[in-house]
Amino acid sequence: MKFILNGTPVEIDFIKEKLLFPHMTVMDYLREHAHLTGTKEGCGIGDCGACTVCLAERDVFGNTVISSVNGCLIMLGMLDNKHLITIEGVAKNGKLHLVQQSLVEKRGSQCGFCSPGMVMSAYAHYLNKKPFTRSSIESSLSGNLCRCTGYESIFQALIDVEKYERIEENPELPENSREELFVEKNGSVYIKPLDLQSLLKYKRWYPQYTLVSGASDLSVKYKTEHPASVSLIDISDIEELKGVTINKDSLTIGANASIESAKEALSVYYPQLSEYLSTFASLQIRNKASMAGSVAGASPVGDIMPLLLALRAGIVLTSDKSSRSIESRNFNTAYRRHIMADDEIIEKFILPLPSERHKLFCSKQSKRKDMDISSMTFCISLSIDNGIIKDVSTGFGGMAAVPCASGKIEEFLTGRPFTEDTFIKAKPLVRQEFSTISDIRGSAEYRLLVAENLLIKCFNDLK
Ligand SMILES: Cc1cc2nc3c(=O)[nH]c(=O)nc-3n(C[C@H](O)[C@H](O)[C@H](O)COP(=O)(O)OP(=O)(O)OC[C@H]3O[C@@H](n4cnc5c(N)ncnc54)[C@H](O)[C@@H]3O)c2cc1C
Ligand code: FES
Ligand code: FES
Repeated sequence: MKFILNGTPVEIDFIKEKLLFPHMTVMDYLREHAHLTGTKEGCGIGDCGACTVCLAERDVFGNTVISSVNGCLIMLGMLDNKHLITIEGVAKNGKLHLVQQSLVEKRGSQCGFCSPGMVMSAYAHYLNKKPFTRSSIESSLSGNLCRCTGYESIFQALIDVEKYERIEENPELPENSREELFVEKNGSVYIKPLDLQSLLKYKRWYPQYTLVSGASDLSVKYKTEHPASVSLIDISDIEELKGVTINKDSLTIGANASIESAKEALSVYYPQLSEYLSTFASLQIRNKASMAGSVAGASPVGDIMPLLLALRAGIVLTSDKSSRSIESRNFNTAYRRHIMADDEIIEKFILPLPSERHKLFCSKQSKRKDMDISSMTFCISLSIDNGIIKDVSTGFGGMAAVPCASGKIEEFLTGRPFTEDTFIKAKPLVRQEFSTISDIRGSAEYRLLVAENLLIKCFNDLK
């Protein structure tokens, strides 16, 4: 594989390089093999941002896209044909970059452990020509934790960057000469097909191999379980799985489009989803994690499925023999189980575009606003016709073994007047529908109470 590292072309032959594997994390590659130890390991599982690096690559239209990503989550094989910039590549000719200089001057660093990650998030923000306003900086740094500064000096330092004229920087990319990657070594296999057709062929030949896209679930799993070997099909660069298309009355989102690009597309039609999806992990994770990764993981507390349920979205499952479109309600079968056959993949999601009378409410409850898995989630879509509620569809997360709809609430609300009284009367149905459990994210009673209260909040927000 070929990529550029801080401006220098790198070529790796995995057969010759005994200690390198395409499934190793970029952070391990940088620290242990490239001896670039500026990228820090804090948590190793996507939670702290100390390992943040910057990735430049081509999008489906051939434009250069720059994003901050977690070095501890993405895999070395995912760098193929891209330009990786680490903290060592930010200062040029011995001169600190503006974001670094400002952090020095405003004392935005104390022990310094978080600082390389902070700089890389701010550098990606700078390269993307985003404004250095407080809210914009907060959103770009949502995945960077600091134990010392209390953040204020960091924000002040970065707000200062806005005062200076920007110098344009365009990271170069390798020539577009991608080749399929097939590495079999020490019992592990890593296949990186170039297109959907080859992916489906491999999935038929090797149905038990695991697909990997943003690796934000799988790298955490491997970090904690230390498997002796892995068999992966890397689908992170398959263009057919990343596109977003607007049709007459629906939006088609490729299964492995990043959550951030899905957020941008969806927010045009459902502005409330900008806030809802901004609470999904951190920007670094959203830049690579996919909707399919969330749905296929079938977690009861994932943020994507409750939304798909409320919108009655379609999920297209494809194998090299056939393709079928199913309703999101039919996807999960039991705790962490789904109806996909071994040779099938999720190809795309089909979401309806809203009509004039249509309303959508989504709320994720978690202990922290950023970077936290939800305790419970409630999404509901409905339309109001002459004051009467119609077309009700719900999606609950964290209330049962799988994300699910509430038939009882949907039936009750349908045909009733859109008034607070209707929603107050719907509250007792929460306890009739769900018998949830207590765990570290919240007690059963807390979840039931919050779900009841969200019905009222939903009315107040939508009225
Ligand atoms: C720090 C941290 C915070 C997080 N916060 C949140 C959060 O706030 N909300 C939330 O919902 N999740 C959160 N997650 C979980 C995770 O980021 C999501 O589940 C994410 O969407 C996974 O996508 P991915 O592309 O990275 O999946 P991967 O790790 O690449 O894959 C996950 C699973 O999906 C399968 N898969 C991927 N693509 C396909 C496909 N096209 N067809 C079939 N199977 C496929 C893989 O085989 C694998 O089994 C968090 C994770 C971390 C580490
Ligand atoms: S080391 Fe903490 S997010 Fe990567
Ligand atoms: S300066 Fe010490 S963790 Fe941020």
